[in-house]
Amino acid sequence: MNKIVITIDGPAASGKGSVSKKISDEFNFFYMETGIYYRGLASLFCKNQVNILDLPYFISNLNVTDFKEYIKFNNKILYSTKVTKLASNLAKNREIREFIVKIQQDIIITLEKKFNGIILEGRDCGSVVAPKADLKFYLTASLKVRAERRFNQFAKDKKDISYEQVLSDLRERDVQDKNRKHSPLQKPKGSVVIDNSDYNFKETINIVKNIIFSRIPTLKSKI
Ligand code: C5P
Repeated sequence: MNKIVITIDGPAASGKGSVSKKISDEFNFFYMETGIYYRGLASLFCKNQVNILDLPYFISNLNVTDFKEYIKFNNKILYSTKVTKLASNLAKNREIREFIVKIQQDIIITLEKKFNGIILEGRDCGSVVAPKADLKFYLTASLKVRAERRFNQFAKDKKDISYEQVLSDLRERDVQDKNRKHSPLQKPKGSVVIDNSDYNFKETINIVKNIIFSRIPTLKSKI
C-alpha cells in the first residue's frame, strides 16, 4: 500500500477532529475519526444493557458491517454525555481495543483508490493503529483553552451544560486516556508536537499544512 498515511493524536477538544476534516477535504484524503468506534460500542452497550462480564461474548458476536452502519447513522446519540463517558471507560479494555484497531487497520489496507491517502485522528493512531504512518502529529492545547472551545461549541448547539462541568469532564477524560494500561494517549515516537493554545483554527491549519508540504513534498502536485 503506497497511499499516504497521516495521524493526528491528542487529548479531547484539542481541535484534531476539525483539523483532520479540513485537511482531508483539501487533500482528498479519507478521514477516519477513530473515537467514533469507541463511542459506537459504548452506545450499543447502553442500548443492549450489556454486562461488563459478557463483553467477550458481545464483541465476538458483533457483525462488523452492522457495527459500521450503526456508527454512520446514530451520530446524535454517540455524542451524548453518557456515551462519551462510557466510551472513555470502555477504551481501557484490551479486548475492545483489539476489536476496534483491527477494523481500523483493515480500512487503511483496503483504502479506495480515489483517495490520495488517509488521515486518522484519535489517541493511539500514531502509536498503535498506524505506527508506520508517513507523518504523525500530536495536537494539544491547555485544559482551560480546550474547555472554553468545547463549552462554546455546546452553547452554540444549545446544550445545557456549565463551563465548570465541561472542564471537569475533560479533566477526567484526560486522566483516564493518559493513564490507562493499554494504548494510553501519548506523543507518538517521531511525532510533530503542536500546542495550539494561542492559535486559532486558521493558524493551526496553516501550520499543519506547511509541515505536511515540507515532509511530503510530492503531495503538492496532487492537490
Ligand atoms: O475522540 P473522542 O473524544 O470522540 O473519543 C472518545 C473516547 O474514545 C476517548 O475519550 C478515548 O477514551 C477513546 N478513544 C481511544 N482511542 C482512540 C480514540 C478514542 O481510546 N484512538
